[in-house]
Amino acid sequence: MAARKPKVVVTRKLPEPVETRMRELFDTQLNLDDKPMSADDLALAMQQTDVLASTITDRIDAPLLARAGDRFKLIANFGVGVDHIDVAAANARGITVTNTPGVLTEDTADLTMGLVLAAARRVVEGANIVQTGEFHGWSPTWMLGRRLWGKRLGIVGMGRIGQSLAKRARAFGLSIHYHNRKPVSQRIAEELEATYWESLDQMLARMDVVSVNCPHTPGTYHLLSARRLKLLQPHAILVNTARGEIIDEAALAGMLQRGELAGAGLDVYEHEPAVNPKLLKLPNVVLLPHMSSATIEGRIDMGEKVIINIRSWMDGHKPPDRVIPSML
Ligand code: 8YV
Repeated sequence: MAARKPKVVVTRKLPEPVETRMRELFDTQLNLDDKPMSADDLALAMQQTDVLASTITDRIDAPLLARAGDRFKLIANFGVGVDHIDVAAANARGITVTNTPGVLTEDTADLTMGLVLAAARRVVEGANIVQTGEFHGWSPTWMLGRRLWGKRLGIVGMGRIGQSLAKRARAFGLSIHYHNRKPVSQRIAEELEATYWESLDQMLARMDVVSVNCPHTPGTYHLLSARRLKLLQPHAILVNTARGEIIDEAALAGMLQRGELAGAGLDVYEHEPAVNPKLLKLPNVVLLPHMSSATIEGRIDMGEKVIINIRSWMDGHKPPDRVIPSML
């Protein structure tokens, strides 16, 4: 790598300390007004720079990558999920892709647990009642939710976030069940007292709460299909803080509307930022705007990871958080 500072385009507004450090270390072009970049803007950036510090709002597919210049060598993504990037096409052109694993695990697990609680105990519905002046007094049979203690939580995808959720859920008295491509190590399984279900279908049919925590890949698109959603028990609650595409959102909305499922807590949507209009009208859903990892500390840590990845690439090393297609 030449001694010159690499030219880095940052596609969205990042926390101020991250931007300051990036300006010190690299020849950095910031996006201070935070307007998402168009495909043409991204292509131009990829022709004129070495590095793109991307986010989930940048669709970096094969046709876009084909427009990259020869000097363009690194996509340092600000975020752990890379389903918006065609990693195989990037690698085929000699472009490295990195992400930011580990630093948003606890924040995401916190909010996932928050959605489980909110959906089961009707927290948002209750808060709205008070805020709209509709609280006219206590009643023994009013605003009843579902007890969590002693119930079964099924985690779809037992990676870092799934395991952190399991730790929290155990403190709330939930027993831990999970479906994953392969079982976790015996040590982790024992620590979490977690039961492995090889069959996702069988697990779904027996859970009280299901949380989606796997990455979105071609293999997990609509993993919770209309057929699989129907396996859920009518009193079950479904939570998703991973990616909207993993659930057939239209099928889910229909089931919630017909009372075939007790509730849902969603932070992500299939056609984000659009949300299925049926969901917007339902009292038994808690809808958040893709904010599970949104803490000040988490976003600064993510920025630091982006910097470390760019820095190590610039120094001629393999960046620590390289993503390769076989990981997906
Ligand atoms: C981030 C996320 O906010 O890291 C991820 O994959 O889904 C989010 O929590 C987002 O990706 C930032 O680009």
